[in-house]
Amino acid sequence: MSVIDKLYKTGNDQKHLKEKSYKTAEKLNVRIATHQKYTQPKIEFYDWVLGQIDWSGNETVFDIGCGSGEYAPHVSKRCDQYFACDLSLGMLQDGAGKSHKCVNLDAMGIPLADNSADVVLANHMIYHIPDQAKGVAEFRRVLKDGGRMIAATNSDGSMQELKDIRSKAMNSIFPDFPKIDESVTSLFKLEGGEEVLKTAFDNVELRVLESWLVFPDPQPVIDYVGSTRDWWEEVFSGTISWQDYENSLRMILDQHFAEHSEFRVSKKTGAFVCW
Ligand SMILES: C[S@@+](CC[C@H](N)C(=O)[O-])C[C@H]1O[C@@H](n2cnc3c(N)ncnc32)[C@H](O)[C@@H]1O
Repeated sequence: MSVIDKLYKTGNDQKHLKEKSYKTAEKLNVRIATHQKYTQPKIEFYDWVLGQIDWSGNETVFDIGCGSGEYAPHVSKRCDQYFACDLSLGMLQDGAGKSHKCVNLDAMGIPLADNSADVVLANHMIYHIPDQAKGVAEFRRVLKDGGRMIAATNSDGSMQELKDIRSKAMNSIFPDFPKIDESVTSLFKLEGGEEVLKTAFDNVELRVLESWLVFPDPQPVIDYVGSTRDWWEEVFSGTISWQDYENSLRMILDQHFAEHSEFRVSKKTGAFVCW
């Protein structure tokens, strides 16, 4: 199996998602905190996503793949009925499930009635669904006619500078290791995402947001990469030890910071609005 196939296989292996990467909110929270702290220009991303549709205040919202529940307070500012939904019980217990109604579910078989939501959120999660068309059909089924589904995700080239130094770190230990420009999120991205969504929705519009991560020192970069360790160790399959990889990454970053005051990583994310 190629290294990319291994990455993709791990990215939507439900046992792995539930028992490792999303067993608790800890690792996701590192990535969320990094984006919140180091993104420039400063933007409240969750409000930006939710601001892509009109709100009346009477909506029922299903947040599918809600993770640690970052959207919950932002939805609650707009309406009363928020349901936190996730494949991982641990995520619900650590996050929005503590203070909101919650459902432990798989997007491919949502245990909620037809036409019951005014808004379905499926943000930064479709890339984890093994059968995306099945998941998207479920989002359409539970959505009322006239309702809106929002699916945020990343662009193909997002965070390329980070992918480049990751590859450099791998290659400095194992020169034949193939360059990997993909990540788990490549399984559902801005490019081509519309085709998947159009299997269930007549209308799909994309709104794009570009920004930067601006790191002042190596540690937050190392921490960010460390939060994805569960996936990448599967890809390395023992050819590269995590400690060697992290040491190599640190050396590359130290060299960078010897000459520059910051490490800039370009980001391109977006939100598909579907109905
Ligand atoms: C990257 S997090 C996104 C969290 C949140 N939507 C956000 O944008 O901050 C992906 C979440 O999707 C959940 N997930 C993965 N596959 C799922 C599935 N098939 N059904 C429901 N949730 C799923 C994971 O457990 C994880 O909490």
